[in-house]
Amino acid sequence: MDTQHPDLHPLFADHLRTLQARADKALLRGGFDHLVVAAGRPANQFLDDRPYPFAVNPHFKHWLPATKAPDSWIVHTPGRKPKLIYLQPHDYWHVVPDSPAGYWVEHFDIAIIREADEARALLPGDAARCAILGEANAALDGFAPNNPPDVLNYLHYQRSYKTPYELAMMRVASKIGARAHRAAERAFRAGASEFDINIAYMEAARQTDNDLPYGNIIGLNEHAAVLHYMDLAHAPPAQAHSFLIDAGASFHGYASDITRTYAADSAGEFRALVDAVDAAQQGFCARVRAGQSYPELHLHAHRVLGDILKEHGFIRMSGESALEAGVTSTFFPHGLGHPIGLQVHDVAGFQASDSGGTIARPPGHPYLRMTRVLEPGMVVTIEPGLYFIDMLLARLKEQPAAKEVDWARVDAFRRYGGVRIEDDVVCTEGDPENLTRDAFAALA
Ligand code: GLY
Ligand code: MN
Ligand code: MN
Repeated sequence: MDTQHPDLHPLFADHLRTLQARADKALLRGGFDHLVVAAGRPANQFLDDRPYPFAVNPHFKHWLPATKAPDSWIVHTPGRKPKLIYLQPHDYWHVVPDSPAGYWVEHFDIAIIREADEARALLPGDAARCAILGEANAALDGFAPNNPPDVLNYLHYQRSYKTPYELAMMRVASKIGARAHRAAERAFRAGASEFDINIAYMEAARQTDNDLPYGNIIGLNEHAAVLHYMDLAHAPPAQAHSFLIDAGASFHGYASDITRTYAADSAGEFRALVDAVDAAQQGFCARVRAGQSYPELHLHAHRVLGDILKEHGFIRMSGESALEAGVTSTFFPHGLGHPIGLQVHDVAGFQASDSGGTIARPPGHPYLRMTRVLEPGMVVTIEPGLYFIDMLLARLKEQPAAKEVDWARVDAFRRYGGVRIEDDVVCTEGDPENLTRDAFAALA
């Protein structure tokens, strides 16, 4: 934490009070006496003794910023100080998790254990009275995760409302990401390959694959048309026309998720399209306000992007008609965004209430990840894009609407792959807070 950020002691104390109050209610809903959260246990690859990268249970890192403490546990019992059962094995093969230190430690009763199995004696005796959150492989003798739906529904829904502490973490995650994006852009301008741009990004972020909240998407030219392109070509293309980078950063368990697209030619046709999408994206971000339906914002984005397609000569129909005919979905085939927080694709994007239920996506929009109405405290991404994807364009060519498309213009843009611009935006009581734009501005 650098010094320009607020003292985390009071922020964390408030955060923890909020979590305790939520846990109390969740236990009432489920009829349990204790909430027990397993950090998780690393899983080995098939027929191998090498584990997959460890990803901590997001419920665990909600309570404290320990993301590398496998086989540790948290126990919340209403009215009591939360207990942390913390494994520090006697192990000379692996790094032993750091001793608890920092702003959060005073808020827990901490018991250090040396073997994973020792946790059992420190956990509540009667497993049947416990809501135990975790993966099946975290089970101890007679004490297995049960993940009660009533409890999870309540906690997941409430997790959408970030505490001031969480927003502080996400501001830092955004700053790390923005700094690394600048390094990646410099590498692109210097003619680097995707592989070397990725190295430049990780070096600037001071994070490698296992630290980052998701695998970096770094695509030059046509590769930008593969939505989750992760191949990282070692050689640069003979001529770079465009560069799309979707890469975030982690801080104390919280994610940022940032996409930028650059044109090699700063005065060319693709730059004009990038600028148009960027301006539209800022308009969508401005609508991240309490009471705004997210799926309606997604449909609004389709209309605006459809109008951009018309203005830039790709189609001859209005954005509204292009949406109705399914044409915008050829060029914008993913959702406008998703909730973000402890997970890059955070939970409860479809949840109807804190007791469960699902809010359906609008018909014809199968990839939208957020159907709720925005409320203060929610953080969502806003990530419109326009792509030239061979497979989807071939399908469109078979449709009646194909006659409304200027195929020569479309073909001329295939070499750029596509554009996406993505920010992480906080819904507040008033104007939205754009974590990503603020982070870039702070670098300038
Ligand atoms: N980086 C994945 C996404 O934008 O959702
Ligand atoms: Mn995203
Ligand atoms: Mn992204």
